[in-house]
Amino acid sequence: MDDSDLLRNFWGLQTMIPQIHDGQNQPLAAESAANQGHTYRQSFAVRYDYDVIFTRDVFEPDNAALRDVVGDDREGGVPDLAVFIDAGVTGSMPGLPRLIESYALAHRQRFRLPGSPTVVPGGERLKNNPEAIRQIQCQLVESGIDRHSYVLAVGGGAMLDVVGYAAATVHRGLRHIRAPTTTLSQADSGVGVKNGVNFMGKKNMLGTFAPPYAVLNDSRFLESQPRRECVSGLAEAVKVALIRDADFFVWLERNAARLRERDPSTLSVAVRRCAELHMAQIANGGDPFERGSARPLDYGHWSAHKLETLSDYQLLHGEAVAIGIALDTRYAVQRGMLAHGCDARVCGLFETLGFRLWHPALEMSDATTHPHPVLNGLSEFQAHMGGRLTLIMLSAIGRAIEVHEIREDVMLEAIGWLKQRETAAVM
Ligand SMILES: NC(=O)c1ccc[n+]([C@@H]2O[C@H](COP(=O)([O-])OP(=O)(O)OC[C@H]3O[C@@H](n4cnc5c(N)ncnc54)[C@H](O)[C@@H]3O)[C@@H](O)[C@H]2O)c1
Ligand SMILES: [Zn+2]
Repeated sequence: MDDSDLLRNFWGLQTMIPQIHDGQNQPLAAESAANQGHTYRQSFAVRYDYDVIFTRDVFEPDNAALRDVVGDDREGGVPDLAVFIDAGVTGSMPGLPRLIESYALAHRQRFRLPGSPTVVPGGERLKNNPEAIRQIQCQLVESGIDRHSYVLAVGGGAMLDVVGYAAATVHRGLRHIRAPTTTLSQADSGVGVKNGVNFMGKKNMLGTFAPPYAVLNDSRFLESQPRRECVSGLAEAVKVALIRDADFFVWLERNAARLRERDPSTLSVAVRRCAELHMAQIANGGDPFERGSARPLDYGHWSAHKLETLSDYQLLHGEAVAIGIALDTRYAVQRGMLAHGCDARVCGLFETLGFRLWHPALEMSDATTHPHPVLNGLSEFQAHMGGRLTLIMLSAIGRAIEVHEIREDVMLEAIGWLKQRETAAVM
């Protein structure tokens, strides 16, 4: 038995030790072989499963959803559950921290709170605030929780991103349960596998891929969110319908007026279908951790992310996404990829839902970086992903294609078209 047989037998390790030969095709002596280096192919697969539970009044003591989620792995006794709540949510539901404490008391055999729920300011400002992020990490460390503990975040997409990031980094990853409280977070970000915080003026520059332990989508929160947030999140529903599901797009058109009025049952259907489509893309799209160059779920996002920063976050994420989608849809029509009339149809849906498809950031100019800073979003998108520029465009409503080149002159014409529409609307 030679050295390589020994290694192969140890734990059954599959090595790629080459049979090394000298010029006369004879095996080399052991010392010279040792100098040649070896390549071991390490290989294992990790499966992720998590439940996305649609429920109502999740913190009423008789609702078993959270109890069952934390109670399904009780190795080592009763686990801790650290709770963080978005201040926007407690603003509209002041009794929520007490309700969660009562819930914990009722289910004390399953989990315990290491302290009272922590209320943190929500919204994009939190993602822009490294000190607030650090404080959440400090609090997790100080609470003494371990890798069998859970971190529950109740809030909008921004707050879930921050707490998710903190939970993914403390102890190299705690079990993160999300209870999203906005249209966008229940339909999109909350059911996905990423988190991110803004860094050096760039959206989501720091972050991790960290699938949640479970997601609790409580329809009660959809009713307490501000109207602007509610509408803003619907941009992600339009997005995923446009790239994956033409029937859903037609359904959105038929129900746009009801959605604008925040009719609870219509909103629940839209959120659920949107979440399903996002989950299907992550599970079946072949690239859940985005190692390739394409991001189908980021249709319209190359300009949206740029517009968010250029507008100094006056535009909400969904509002910027709606503009980004309108822009790319018009561009596709101008380039002959998409049938005439689809641009007006998509814009019409957004407008009925209550979106405005223009922002002055679209025509900002800056001689030092790019005469049209919004177009810098293209190179920033590519720099983030690496590889060659890959953007999603539409070839039909419900069908996406990839493109690798953008004509800036045509994109500027598309911006001009949006401005013309806006001007016509206000006259
Ligand atoms: N990680 C991802 O995969 C991913 C995907 C898409 C978007 N995002 C991120 O999500 C963020 C946007 O999230 P959002 O649209 O949920 O907005 P948001 O989190 O910014 O919340 C908006 C405001 O609503 C308040 N709020 C939230 N829920 C409330 C409720 N039920 N009642 C009253 N007030 C409430 C918040 O305090 C905040 O002031 C962006 O930062 C975006 O980048 C992340
Ligand atoms: Zn988005």
